[in-house]
Amino acid sequence: MLKTPTIIVNYKTYGASIGEDGLELTRMIEKESEENWAVCPQAPDIRMNAENSNIPVLAQHVDAIEPGSHTGHDLLETMVDAGAQGVLINHSEKRLKLSDIEKIVDRCEEEDLTTIICANNPEVASSAAALKPDFVAYEPPQLIGGDISVSTAKPEVVREAVKKVKAVDEDVEVLCGAGVKDGEDVEAALSLGTKGVLLASGLVKADDKKKVIKDLEDGI
Ligand code: G3P
Repeated sequence: MLKTPTIIVNYKTYGASIGEDGLELTRMIEKESEENWAVCPQAPDIRMNAENSNIPVLAQHVDAIEPGSHTGHDLLETMVDAGAQGVLINHSEKRLKLSDIEKIVDRCEEEDLTTIICANNPEVASSAAALKPDFVAYEPPQLIGGDISVSTAKPEVVREAVKKVKAVDEDVEVLCGAGVKDGEDVEAALSLGTKGVLLASGLVKADDKKKVIKDLEDGI
């Protein structure tokens, strides 16, 4: 289970976070940070990041399959073998069927991996909580990749997501993401009852990444 409050950086498929460039960013986070960070590189980069840093590495996705006759899928066991400590599930950019989400959460639990189910609104967040992940991450799709942070643009919806998740299961923690770029956004997210943030473009696309890392940490 990831320590909180946490800042999770999703490397997505940005050119600036592929391969060696991604590892450089992970190492920079390791060197410059004091708080609980985690990174989500692309699947082929998980091992390299896990073996060359102490920052927890999460998979961006896994498929709801067992080892065997499947082609072109992401297998949970392979992620674990590569060093992943957790998984993002149902990201807005990789939506899944409810039955698959349930299966993935159950399989992750067997492997002792941290589970983060993403939800596009408080109602979906509430349904996600019923599947007993470690975290539900509220991310409004329309704010992803933009400059306006979920925690400042939609504070009441973040609060509602926290309320709905806690009403279903007090043990499930809430994160939020979309447009997070500085310490103020992180501070706002925590003040609304979340245990951290997910972000991508605000750091991956920044010119001065060290400055952004420090600024984000100041929010904690
Ligand atoms: O998983 C985090 C992500 O979807 C947020 O992206 O670019 O808005 O920080 P971004």
